Amino acid sequence: MDILFNSTPSSHTNALVVGVFADNELSQAARDIDLQIHGNLMHAINASHFKGKPTDMLVITAPHGIDVDRIVVVGLGDKQKINELQLTNLGGQIYATLATTPDRAAEIILHDLVLPSMKSEEIAAHVGVGALLRSWRFDKYCTKKEDEKKPQLQQITFVTASPDDAQEKFDDLSAVVAGSFFMRDLASEPPNILYPESFAARVKELKSYGLKIEILTEKKMESLGMGALLGVAQGSIFSPRLVSIQWQGGEKGQKPVAFVGKGVTFDSGGISLKPSASMDEMKYDMCGAAVVAGLMQTLAKRKAKVNAVGVIGLVENMPSGTAQRPGDIVTSMSGQTIEILNTDAEGRLVLADALSYTQKEFDPKLIVNLATLTGAIIVSLGDEYAGLFSNNDELSQKLTDTGEKVGEKLWRFPLHKKYDKMLDTPVADMANITRKRGAGSITAAQFLQRFIENDLPWAHLDIAGVSWADKASPLAGKGATAFGVRLLDRMVKDYYEA
Ligand code: BES
Ligand code: MN
Ligand code: ZN
Repeated sequence: MDILFNSTPSSHTNALVVGVFADNELSQAARDIDLQIHGNLMHAINASHFKGKPTDMLVITAPHGIDVDRIVVVGLGDKQKINELQLTNLGGQIYATLATTPDRAAEIILHDLVLPSMKSEEIAAHVGVGALLRSWRFDKYCTKKEDEKKPQLQQITFVTASPDDAQEKFDDLSAVVAGSFFMRDLASEPPNILYPESFAARVKELKSYGLKIEILTEKKMESLGMGALLGVAQGSIFSPRLVSIQWQGGEKGQKPVAFVGKGVTFDSGGISLKPSASMDEMKYDMCGAAVVAGLMQTLAKRKAKVNAVGVIGLVENMPSGTAQRPGDIVTSMSGQTIEILNTDAEGRLVLADALSYTQKEFDPKLIVNLATLTGAIIVSLGDEYAGLFSNNDELSQKLTDTGEKVGEKLWRFPLHKKYDKMLDTPVADMANITRKRGAGSITAAQFLQRFIENDLPWAHLDIAGVSWADKASPLAGKGATAFGVRLLDRMVKDYYEA
């Protein structure tokens, strides 16, 4: 779908979108249209529950007196309170509504919108980003889907005072849309198509953005002593990969910010096999890695003035004659030994070596890792918030504040040596799970913290509950959400760029 900007309304469109403020105060565009359709807009508003609140929406089909098929009236809420996130969400909501119609083209009239805090072209850019984000679909394997059942919308044109400025702002903001789409595409591929080697190959294509990609094969990982990651991979016919993605947008010699992702392309549980109901969902156990890949693409695409590195650990967790057993003891790259008590607690094993490698190879100034790590985080937070675990208050605050800004919300959990102790085992430096009940997401985070050296600022985001949606939200339909891409892109922008 194309997002366009224009200074005057065109005469050929299927749908017109106009805004109404709180308490049904019509915008100039809404007033003009109300006149053209003989007061029918006000009539429709009065005959409905529409109050001009954000998320209020009203569709007038086949209006009389104007040459369009539809007028979509959207609530803008209180003029003083309109913010970026609300506008982005509004764009998503407009797209979702138009996608259920046969409309091919729509125009959003915003040129008369004057807000205390934002110019018309900025408003247009934010709404455009939201609409575009919501337009993503994954139907490449549906060979028989009827064409007319697919959304028909080809273009949305924003009518705004200075279209060139709006376009420029939009180009800058929409880098994160490309990164989010890349993430969602990766997350949605089935595990027979997307496995460690093919995942790495797709990431390698990001070279064209000026990113430096390095792919470690199994042999190389053996020589580095990555026994924790390799132990998980040994049951699969697919050999593992560790991929680093470097972006040099800052000054030479400046320490990079690092992002590390769990990339289990399918998590069967291994010998500690998961129940078969919903096991298919475990194709999305690579969302942490996909977020890191999408984020790095975004940073490169918008030429962020920062040095950043992404590291992703790619494995498949399968049961087989060569698979890791409960009871095995492996030696991680850090030298610490781990007793495997449950082969389904594999994400932390992959991350352990990925974290060690990141610190040793790139000497970052901080690390944020992302992982669909525990089912327990879904019990705690459902699908609204992701879990945040960190050894650093400042980094936590930055993440939390950014999350509120972009609508990817984080809730911080405690870390404590009492939880850490729950991982002790008599036969090795640690076990990969605790035998005690409770605090499953926290003990998983404690496990990761054992691989952070010298109190390096570190945060772990447990995104198991927020990565895959069973219902649509303003910016994403069902399926992969790309939670984390907008969050971390914005955090870099607001705090770490020159
Ligand atoms: N990938 C799962 C966690 C998960 C569960 C992600 C549901 C998304 C949805 C992870 O590898 C796992 O299996 N964790 C176990 C840990 C347990 C064995 C200590 C879990 O949460 O049950
Ligand atoms: Mn698992
Ligand atoms: Zn897993």
